[in-house]
Order: sequence, then C-alpha cells, then structure tokens
Amino acid sequence: MTEPKANASTSRRDFLTTTAATAGTAALLSAVTPVHAAGSDKIKIGLIGCGGRGRGAASNTCEGNEGISIYALGDLFKDNLDSCRNTLKDDSHSREKLDLTDDRCFTGFDAYKKVIDSGVDMVILATPPGFRPMMLEYAVKAGKNIFTEKPVGVDGPGIRRVLAAYEEAKSKGLAIAAGTQRRHEAPYIEALKRIHGGEIGDITSARVYWNQGKLWHRSLAEQKEKKWSDMEWQIRNWLYFAWLSGDHIVEQHVHNLDVANWALTKDSSEPGHPLSCVGLGGRQVRTAPDFGHIFDHHAVEYVYPDNVHVQSFCRQIENTQGNVSEQIVGTKGSFGAKDQNFVFDVGGKKSRIRTKGINPYVQEHIDLVKSVREGKPINELKQVAYSTLTAIMGRMSTYTGQEVSWEQALNSKEVLMPEGELTFRSLPIPPVAVPGTTKLV
Ligand SMILES: NC(=O)c1ccc[n+]([C@@H]2O[C@H](COP(=O)([O-])OP(=O)(O)OC[C@H]3O[C@@H](n4cnc5c(N)ncnc54)[C@H](O)[C@@H]3O)[C@@H](O)[C@H]2O)c1
Repeated sequence: MTEPKANASTSRRDFLTTTAATAGTAALLSAVTPVHAAGSDKIKIGLIGCGGRGRGAASNTCEGNEGISIYALGDLFKDNLDSCRNTLKDDSHSREKLDLTDDRCFTGFDAYKKVIDSGVDMVILATPPGFRPMMLEYAVKAGKNIFTEKPVGVDGPGIRRVLAAYEEAKSKGLAIAAGTQRRHEAPYIEALKRIHGGEIGDITSARVYWNQGKLWHRSLAEQKEKKWSDMEWQIRNWLYFAWLSGDHIVEQHVHNLDVANWALTKDSSEPGHPLSCVGLGGRQVRTAPDFGHIFDHHAVEYVYPDNVHVQSFCRQIENTQGNVSEQIVGTKGSFGAKDQNFVFDVGGKKSRIRTKGINPYVQEHIDLVKSVREGKPINELKQVAYSTLTAIMGRMSTYTGQEVSWEQALNSKEVLMPEGELTFRSLPIPPVAVPGTTKLV
C-alpha cells in the first residue's frame, strides 16, 4: 500500500523503511499518521501465527480481495511456518498472491515484531490469544491495519492493553477487523438489524450456547517423544492452558457471547456488556494432565442493564448433546440462530431469514480491505475486547465461585502469562481452579 501518487515523491513506505532502519523500533513509527491506500495500491499483508486459522485467514483474504499480497510470515515454530508456506503455495486462492522470500519468513518469540517491521501494510494476528495484547499493541504502534482473530486476550490486564490500543488505533485512523465472523454474516446482520428495529420488542433475556465434544490435543507422551520443553509443549497444546487460550469459555464461546453483546448494544460507541455474572463450572471428564488445567464445562448467568439475564453454557465433553446457538427473547417475540437456521417467532408466527450472503470468513476480509481503500476504517477492536472480557468474567466466576462484576474483571490484577522471559524452559502445569478456594484477583 504505497502513498497515493499525488501526495509525495517520498512514499510512505520509503519513509517508514528509513525510519525503521534508523530507529529500529516500532515506537518511533507511532508518530506517523497512516495514509490509506488509493484503490489500485497493493496491500502487503503479514501473517503472524501460521496454524489452521492463520492459513485459513490468509486464504480467505486472497479469495475476497484483489490488489493484495501475502508478503511476510511469522510463527514461533519453523515446522508450522514451513507447512503454512507450502499450504498457501498449493491453495488456489493464495498461490497467485504470494510474495514471500526466505528473509521475510520469521520464527521465534519475536517473529511478530519482524513481520510488523518488514514493510507490510496490514497484519493478520492468529496466534493463541494469550499473545494477542502485546501483538496488537506493537502493530498499532507501528501504524498497521489489522485483522485480529478472536479472542483478543485472556485476562483483565490484557484487555486493558487492548482497549488502550483501540484508542490509539482510532486516533491514527487504523482499520481493525476481528474474527467474530457472525458480525459479517448476512443472516446475522439482518437479524440484528431487525432486533434493533424493535421486531421482538424490548429484550428481556437471552440464551447462548457452545456445547460440543472434544477438540484436538498434543499429549505429554508426544512431548516426551519430541523432547519439547514444557513451554514448547504448552504452546503447542495451547487450548488447555488459560494463559494461552483463556479456557474454552473464552477461546470458543466468545462467539456466542459476542452475539448477546451485539443484541444488547444500545449505543455503537459503547458495545453492550454485562454488569455482573455468577457461574458454575468444573473439570469432570477431561481430567488428564494432557489437557492442561482448564475446565470442560461452564454455565454462567450474566446480568445486563435493565435486569436482562443471559444464560450461557459451554461444554467440551465427548458423547454429550451438541448445541451451538443463540436465542434472543423480547417482549413481542424471539429470534434464534442454530445450525444455519435463523428464525424469528413473533406473536406465534415463525419466519425464517432467507438471506444467504457469502462465506463470513471471506466477507470479514472484504469489509476490512474495502474500509482501508475507501479511507473509512472499520474498527472492531473495542467490541471484540468487550466480548472477550465478558467471557473472561464468566471464567473468573466459574473458577472462584464468586459473583464477578464488569469492573472487577476489567480492573483485575490477574496476569495469566507466566512470569519471566518467554523462552523454551520448564513450566509447571498451573493448578486446576477450585471454586471456593481459588481467589478472585
Ligand atoms: N474465528 C474463528 O472461527 C476461529 C476458528 C479457529 C481458531 N480461531 C482463533 O484463531 C487463533 C489461532 O487458532 P488456530 O486454530 O489457528 O491454532 P493453531 O494452533 O492451529 O495455530 C496457532 C499458530 O500460532 C503459532 N504461535 C504460537 N505462539 C506464537 C507466538 N508467540 N508467536 C508466533 N506464532 C505463535 C503456533 O506455532 C501455530 O502455528 C486463536 O485465537 C483461535 O481462537 C478462530
């Protein structure tokens, strides 16, 4: 994304490159006001976190957008980076849009900085979410447009950093889209418009669920066989460690909680969020240390303004009944989304939303890039930060057995990232939380 020609003989990229070379830090770049691309400028994208979703997101943005290139890759591990590079080379959407060189493929804990400083205009952040606040912070300081996967943190202090980055991004006019793709899915967009237009009356309650069986894991036996340090094993097995994933209520259920917050948003500058919650949860089936220390089920009741109660269930237990859905109930009727069925029930009359739209995983990248090109940057960071914090406060309640307020979650002092340097070293599995014993911090 070079400087629009009319503006300067020295392009913004030249300026950034020179400045970066001189300063060597993103901090100096924060002084630069970003200039958005004119329609024909190529947008150079750096992917940070080259796993399943990172590859998917890179392919999705290539499918949806012309005039972009995948310009740099970064991952903690070389094997994941290499296999991602091969996948993208084979992928029909991305293969023509790859502009990668070996010296723009970075590994290690500082790979994200190297990608951000490599001359990209936009980054895709798709590592485990425990690393998201520091990566968002650095990318915003460097003046990059961002696609960030959800969730955007795992604890209150992380969310405070993200909210500060949101303010900075807003003042710099950066575009940020989040991987809460329901917000870019045509039937959800229509439904929420109708809900906000009063079709089901005033919202009185809601139910949001993500109940399913097990997900993948990397066992302790594999750690031993491959001689991974504890740190490496935990990061490769990140779903099961709260410092990396936030627990599955944060990592996965954030999607459904985001729909509740969306429905209960009254003013777009202040996304809807609960005032307090009480939750029960535990680790009943997935108890082996292979599965780290997170719970396998959570049930939380959230209280929103106007005494609206939202019931939230999430479970990852094999052979149990699956249910991934949202239902919003109002004084005149209700709306339900489940298994790609979107149904209003008003006064006993059911009507189905027929709008199809395109794949929301592609649409979110179209919306992001378009907003950059048109100079009308979307910024979804605050809403996804609030939805992430909604999930975090639920976890704080299920872990401690205490009622948790929004302020307690937001002002929490609990930093989940292990103390000390991020290096491949020994790292004990954190204890499993015990309600009544685990303290609210
Ligand atoms: N929107 C959605 O529907 C959706 C679906 C799946 C995953 N996700 C989200 O996408 C993110 C990634 O999930 P995934 O399924 O791709 O996981 P994954 O394990 O497949 O990939 C994560 C990648 O990040 C790399 N990584 C880990 N720590 C890193 C670090 N410090 N620096 C650089 N790279 C690092 C890993 O090596 C790995 O390649 C998560 O936040 C997840 O919640 C979103």
